[in-house]
Amino acid sequence: MTKPTLLITRHLPDAIEARAARDYDARLNTADDPWFRDGAEIAHRAAGAAGILCAAGDPMGEATIAALPDSVKIISTFSVGTDHIAIPAARARGIEVTNTPEVLSFATAEIAFTLMLMAARRAGEGERMVRAGAWHGWAPTQLMGVTLEGKRLGILGFGRIGQKLAAMARGMSMEIHYRDVRRAAPEQEQGAVFHETDAGFLGAIDVLSMHVPGGDATRKWLNADRIAMLRPGALVVNSGRGPSVDDAALAAALRTGHVRAAGLDVYDGEPRVFPAYLDLENVALLPHLGSATIETRAAMGERCLDNLDAVLLRGQAALHRA
Ligand code: DGY
Repeated sequence: MTKPTLLITRHLPDAIEARAARDYDARLNTADDPWFRDGAEIAHRAAGAAGILCAAGDPMGEATIAALPDSVKIISTFSVGTDHIAIPAARARGIEVTNTPEVLSFATAEIAFTLMLMAARRAGEGERMVRAGAWHGWAPTQLMGVTLEGKRLGILGFGRIGQKLAAMARGMSMEIHYRDVRRAAPEQEQGAVFHETDAGFLGAIDVLSMHVPGGDATRKWLNADRIAMLRPGALVVNSGRGPSVDDAALAAALRTGHVRAAGLDVYDGEPRVFPAYLDLENVALLPHLGSATIETRAAMGERCLDNLDAVLLRGQAALHRA
């Protein structure tokens, strides 16, 4: 039987590319050539393909979806986030869209926790000091940060990742608060304090960790007004999506110290980074590492292919419909 054609926009872990090549007429991008940045090029390369395996950040907006050939039946994204895909436009064309929930929750919570610690304990500053040869020995007042022990962690978006972070933070004796569109079940809350208002939430916490999806509903959620609601000296971490932070407002608060320190893994318009952050010592900057563990990226790839197999090889419903 002829294998269905599958366009894969990015270089994926070897075992995932091998599985794809075994089961599909796979068009790989083993060199990770940047043609994936151009939606028209993706559509062009999808000629005759039944499926597209794309990734976070690929330009799968309305124009790309409209340009796809009729042969495309499914878009399987190597990400849990789907803010790069015009899902209603895809569905209107009868194209299924799937993502990779669950398998990256722990890894992404780990990065949020890493950033929390980097911000609290000034780890980025310390690392830069050592590498610059500017460390002249231990000193009683050198690079003093703040502890997380006993602090109130505010989780914005209490989904799978937020709940994993809460479990980690309990191990650091942190008190958990959260804000979400609705209150979680008691077994998910595990004693976490739900807040019904932004003001009540932001005024109650010492550390804000953001886990909200991108899109218009959360665009610049953390703006100057909400930053002003934070307690002086709060820490801010974002490992969700960059556009949910008003960068100019956060940089201004980092400059005055109203926000003591921040940790960011995601950026508005990434890989561009808001230039003011680069001059600030009190912000830790990571290159969107949330799901970047060997184990998680393998599991994400398997999940993408499981969805493609269900739809294209077995004619069944997708397993993880976005
Ligand atoms: C996702 O899966 O949405 C992540 O942001 C990519 O690591």
